[in-house]
Amino acid sequence: MKTTVETGRSLETVGLSRSFGGVHAVRDATVTFQQGKINALIGPNGSGKTTFFNCVTGMIKPDSGTVTFKGHDITRRSPHRIARAGIGRSFQLCRVFPRMTVLENLLVAVQPKGLRDLLSGARNPAEIDRARALLVRVGIDHLENSEARNLSYGQQKLLELAGVLMGDPDTIMLDEPAGGVNPALIGRIATLVQELNAEGKTFLVVEHNMELVMSLSDHVIVFDRGRPIAEGPPETVQSDPRVLEAYLGV
Ligand SMILES: Nc1ncnc2c1ncn2[C@@H]1O[C@H](COP(=O)(O)OP(=O)(O)OP(=O)(O)O)[C@@H](O)[C@H]1O
Ligand SMILES: [Mg+2]
Repeated sequence: MKTTVETGRSLETVGLSRSFGGVHAVRDATVTFQQGKINALIGPNGSGKTTFFNCVTGMIKPDSGTVTFKGHDITRRSPHRIARAGIGRSFQLCRVFPRMTVLENLLVAVQPKGLRDLLSGARNPAEIDRARALLVRVGIDHLENSEARNLSYGQQKLLELAGVLMGDPDTIMLDEPAGGVNPALIGRIATLVQELNAEGKTFLVVEHNMELVMSLSDHVIVFDRGRPIAEGPPETVQSDPRVLEAYLGV
């Protein structure tokens, strides 16, 4: 059962655009994500989903348009400030430090509290406890001292998710959490997303695995050639002729 009902404004974009040379990766995208829900962003390869994520999280600057989070304009803020505002994200090609241990990966995910922390490399024991608790939560605590490169790709995705959770974000953006992951671990990732959502976290999930999208999400937004073309509950979107056309060219 959901414990939190948030009525505040969520993440919104208005007229967001970004080109690379002549390629309009994202064009005039006006999108509202529902607070406290699992929102899915789907669309064919190259339809601009990752570029959209990158614009929202400050990794790349949009050419025009705005990004608003809970009523605050966060357009053009640095990725660090956007993360601090409460937006966490994972990457399509999983980003972990391969030669660091699993536990170390989580500790570097946290910003040092001050210069002294940074210089001494000292770690707050409470932070270590929290990292260990998150490893238990995502089910890779037995790998705490393994180097990340020795984990399967799915385990690395779980480690990346734990790293995102270290920042205690309110909104979590996952770029293809199931891509390249074996079915058993896809099930675990799906369960985690549902549990975290029940605890009040908002999700924005880019995913090509339609079975997962349809079973997991409350609200689906479909991108085609850089802009949203349809949105709604999964069952409605699934049979929308514009969506079938975008995917199948029918
Ligand atoms: N850094 C870049 N430089 C040049 N072109 C880019 C860059 N990033 C993305 N593009 C182009 O922008 C378009 C959108 O790409 P993007 O990666 O956002 O799509 P996507 O929906 O995430 O695709 P996929 O489902 O394959 O991950 C594509 O044509 C892509 O080639
Ligand atoms: Mg992508």
